[in-house]
Amino acid sequence: MVAIEFRDVYFRYNEDTPWVLKNFNLKIESKETVAILGHNGSGKSTIAKLANGLLMPQAGEIFIDDRKITPTNVWEIRQKIGMVFQNPENQFVGTTVRDDVAFGLENRAIAREEMLRRIQESLQQVGMEAYENHEPHHLSGGQKQRVAIASVMAIHPQVLLLDEATAMLDPRGKKEILATVLSLKEQLAITTVMITHDLQEISIADRVIVMNKGAIFKDTTTDKLFNSHQELQSIGLTIPLSVQLAIELEQYGYPFSTYPLKQEELIETLWKSHLKM
Ligand SMILES: Nc1ncnc2c1ncn2[C@@H]1O[C@H](COP(=O)(O)OP(=O)(O)O)[C@@H](O)[C@H]1O
Ligand SMILES: [Mg+2]
Repeated sequence: MVAIEFRDVYFRYNEDTPWVLKNFNLKIESKETVAILGHNGSGKSTIAKLANGLLMPQAGEIFIDDRKITPTNVWEIRQKIGMVFQNPENQFVGTTVRDDVAFGLENRAIAREEMLRRIQESLQQVGMEAYENHEPHHLSGGQKQRVAIASVMAIHPQVLLLDEATAMLDPRGKKEILATVLSLKEQLAITTVMITHDLQEISIADRVIVMNKGAIFKDTTTDKLFNSHQELQSIGLTIPLSVQLAIELEQYGYPFSTYPLKQEELIETLWKSHLKM
């Protein structure tokens, strides 16, 4: 099953501005976890907005779960693809966490009992069940984004798409979101697309797509991504410090089978190779 497909898509915001996407093709299979990376302005959010019908392409076709997006089925498509955006503050409508998760369900005329069941279930999935009666503005950034994820999960989407959902969070909040996404992936095997410019976040993805100037620059696996670190730097991506160190150390004979995304992994690899020396 194909979860998301862009077929020969052309998109621009205005007739007198350049194409943001030009003959763009992308296929994401069901149950994949994909990270989409790229510098600012490379077209990532445009892809997200096209995928849930917030924008319509000037040419080409977009399919979600094998259904082509048309102006008349956008509502149905949005049920299939749940989106979480950057700013946690902009995603709240309810006065309590429960109301907030309920909002999207009320819009879909779901029976009250089923609604209450789904609210509990989705808050449990993100580890926020103890906060049902809390006011959203008292939560930490990471907790707010977890509630935003719960609101989306309550709709039972086939795809979860996070557009820079960790960009405004502190390191702890970022960790919370990564752990949540990883646990959803393990519990539910949901198709997940994480748009980010933080290369550390790719650790939980199976596949990494690097965007540059509205086109796919690389489509690879997480393990292999840093083999082309020079190219990545040349298109404005920052290589994580632990990977930079590993690249330097390789010149001194320290072998790395995969580049470490975390400091702890770097230390562990060095320690093991030290024991062998
Ligand atoms: N609402 C808009 N109107 C006009 N141009 C836009 C709009 N949103 C984005 N763009 C332009 O489209 C290009 C891609 O933007 P975007 O998809 O937001 O990139 P990213 O999410 O990778 O930072 C950029 O050149 C940006 O300036
Ligand atoms: Mg963006």
